[in-house]
Order: sequence, then C-alpha cells, then structure tokens
Amino acid sequence: MEKLTMDKIVNICKQYGFIYQGSEIYGGLANTWDYGPLGSRLKNNIKDAWRKRFIQENKNSYEIDADILMHPRVWEASGHVGGFSDPLIDCKECKTRHRADKLIEEYDHNINGDALSEEEMIEYIRKNKVPCPKCGKSNFTDIRQFNLMFETHRGVIKDDTSSLVYLRPETAQGEFVNFLNVQRTMRAKIPFGIGQIGKAFRNEITPGNFTFRTIEFEQMEHQLFCREGTDTGFYKFYKEYAMNFLKDLGLNTDKLRYKDHEKLVFYAKEACDIEYLFPMGWGELWGTHNRTNYDLSRHQEYSGKSMEYIDPEDNSKYIPYVIESSVGCDRLTLAILCDAYDEEILEDGTTREVMHLAPSIAPYKVAVLPLVKKYHSEYAKELKEKLSHSFMCMYDETGSIGKRYRREDAIGTPFCITVDDETINNNIVTIRNRDTMEQISINVDEIEDYIANEIKF
Ligand code: GAP
Repeated sequence: MEKLTMDKIVNICKQYGFIYQGSEIYGGLANTWDYGPLGSRLKNNIKDAWRKRFIQENKNSYEIDADILMHPRVWEASGHVGGFSDPLIDCKECKTRHRADKLIEEYDHNINGDALSEEEMIEYIRKNKVPCPKCGKSNFTDIRQFNLMFETHRGVIKDDTSSLVYLRPETAQGEFVNFLNVQRTMRAKIPFGIGQIGKAFRNEITPGNFTFRTIEFEQMEHQLFCREGTDTGFYKFYKEYAMNFLKDLGLNTDKLRYKDHEKLVFYAKEACDIEYLFPMGWGELWGTHNRTNYDLSRHQEYSGKSMEYIDPEDNSKYIPYVIESSVGCDRLTLAILCDAYDEEILEDGTTREVMHLAPSIAPYKVAVLPLVKKYHSEYAKELKEKLSHSFMCMYDETGSIGKRYRREDAIGTPFCITVDDETINNNIVTIRNRDTMEQISINVDEIEDYIANEIKF
C-alpha cells in the first residue's frame, strides 16, 4: 500500500461512516468531528476494553463519572488557572496564529519544543529565521502565554466573576477530589485506583491532524493512589500495563515507542509518553506520570479539607502518591484506524480495502449474507435477528457475494456468514474470516460459541 496520508484516512472515515466533519451542512465547525454509526461503535468498544483492563481486571480499581463542571477553585488548586497555557506567536505578515514550540518542531524534527524555555524559543525562531508555514515569511510577534481552558458562566448574570466556571481540561481532577469519597464508600485500602472516561475541553491554538488534536475530546484516565516509596514500582508497572494494552488492541509494535520526558514539571518525579507513528509522524498517545502527592496536597491546601489517608496497617497518616495513566480516546481511535487500514493486492490483480481491526473492538462482529436473495433471505434474516441478541450484526443482501464481502472487509467486520442451500437443507453455514479470507463450514447451533470465542479481549 502507498504511504497512508491523513487526508486519505479522513476520506475513508467519512465514506464508511466512522467519522464526519462536525456541523457539516453549515460548512463545518473547524476541528470538531462527529462519530458515525461505525465510529461510535468502535470508540465504545475501545472504552469497554479500557474498562475491562483498567477497572475490572485491575486489582482494587473503581470507576467514577464526575461532572464536567467543577468548582473554579479546583482549577486554581490544580494549577490550570495560573499555568495551563501554550506559547502563542502571531505571524505579523499573514496574521496566522501558531504554537511556538510546534513551529520549531515542524521546522526541525530533531528538536523537542517542549524542552525549550520561552526565551530559547524566540531566540531559535529569530536566529534560524523559522518561516511561517502559511506565508513563508519570518516576521513574528513576541511569545504570549495563552490559557487553554474554556470559560463559561452559570446563572443569569454573565459579567459577574462569581458565575465563572470552566469546562474541565482533563478528567483527572474529578478523581483527585473524590479520592476520600471513594476510599471511604468502597472501604478501599491503599494501593487502590480510581478511573474514569469522560469529555475534556481545550481551546487549542493549533488543533488539527483530524482527531489527533481537537478542542473537545474524551480521556480515559486512571490514578493509582499509593504509599511513598512504592511509587516508582507502580510507575514502571503502569508504563508496561499501558503498552501491553495497546499491543492487545492490535497496534503494530513497530509503530509504538516510549519517550521519557526531558523536562519534568516541578512536582513530577517521573513521566513518560507512549508515542505512535501517525501518518504525519510520531505523536503522543499515552502519558504515564508519577505526580507524587502534589495534587492531593494542593486540594488539601485550597479546600481546607484533609486529604490524608489513615493506614489501617500501622495507623500512620499520609497523603498518598499518585501514578497517573492517561490516554485520549479519540487519539487512540485514530491510531487504531490508521493502523488497521490496508489496501491489499489480490492474486487476480484487484485491490481490496480492509480494516484489520482486532475482532474484540470491530464495530460489527458478524455479517449475515444470503447467497441468493430469492431463496435464502428469509432464513438469513431470522439468523441475523437471533445473533443480534449476542453481537452487533449486519445483514446485507444487495449485490454479488464478492462485493458484499468487500464492503464488510472495508469496515472491519471480522466474520461473514453465508446462508445457502446447505443451510436451508442441513443447517450448515460457511464463515469467512476477514483477514485470511478462508472459509469454514459449521452448524448453525455452533455459531454463537465460535464468534464469542474469537472476539474475546
Ligand atoms: N491528566 C493528564 C493529562 O491530561 P495530557 O498529556 O495533557 O495529560 C492526556 O493529556 C492524553 O489526552 C494525551 O496523551 C492525548 O492522548 C489526549 N489529548 C490531550 N489533548 C488532546 C487534544 N487536544 N485532542 C485530543 N486528545 C488530546
């Protein structure tokens, strides 16, 4: 297959119903995307897989669903009001806005813009005459810090500062402020974890690359609360746990790598990203951070409420350390789509488009196809209805059987069941495997067990 471009993946996503431009009939709202029937199923399956791995199978882990709107003091305590900003720079010639660190990284791929101070960035841009990506000139303003939080107002009086609230820029704070609630109600002993999946909002200066960086997105975050001294062990554990999860979702290991943070934020002890090789280059996918006891200490300071844990083992009191594991669900969905898409040249010289999605996360698990509509559709419809109690199931009776297989390949359906005379007479169907294109014959009564076994995560 030719190198996959982001434009190609955008087109495929639209063509097959994975992701559409947001508000498209009004000309679109930049950097907003709506998930279609296939995309929303895929994303939900990814969330279910995360839930299984990070909550269900993870010892002592609890899921919560905190509100998007939180007390404004939460964001003062977390440091977002004072420091959650990006370095903004304007091109004086064409008036476009850029993130100074990204401008430098795009100019020289070997530089990590994140590791440069504001002074170093401006010096680099001026010394190297870094061009504006839009007009090619190098005539920029100074750098200004731009806060990424979306503000809104509650109540009726908009200009009253007491009504100011923020759309959360991360889900993590919901987990921190509920630490003691969960600990008490679940009688949890440290080490234990709190995770959640939810929307986050950031007024990004340079969103783009499809759903890689958007202003509204979903995060899947998990915080492990532990005793100081055990933190580095858990940090290493979660780094590997995340990587194994990605591999189990079927991501190509050659396109995944760890990248330790060069510049740690002052409270962090250790931090590492997992990067994925997207069509536009390596990009952050997942972060694992040892946040020490910073977040809980800050909430204790700002709320005036104790965040201490009393250890039943020795009655000691302490504020736990936190190991955070954080991934964007939309970014992960994008990585999975890019990874799964392929154009295979077949022996007869034709090309087949195929999404090699792991069966556990494929939007539809099975398609039921009557070989000849006139003779086999009644049986096939009944079978589809029966299987729909257990799996997302597709039914298609239009076009040649070959064309119908191709349609299912393109949306990643791992199994196609063909209903033919053998089915009507002897209850035998053929099941075609998407990846190998091989077919096996089995009894209708065995279908459910067969599929259930194949789609296990
Ligand atoms: N609580 C820690 C935190 O939010 P982050 O590195 O800012 O850390 C975590 O975000 C993950 O969320 C990223 O690794 C990425 O997958 C996703 N993410 C962050 N900003 C995003 C955006 N604007 N659009 C889509 N996904 C984003």
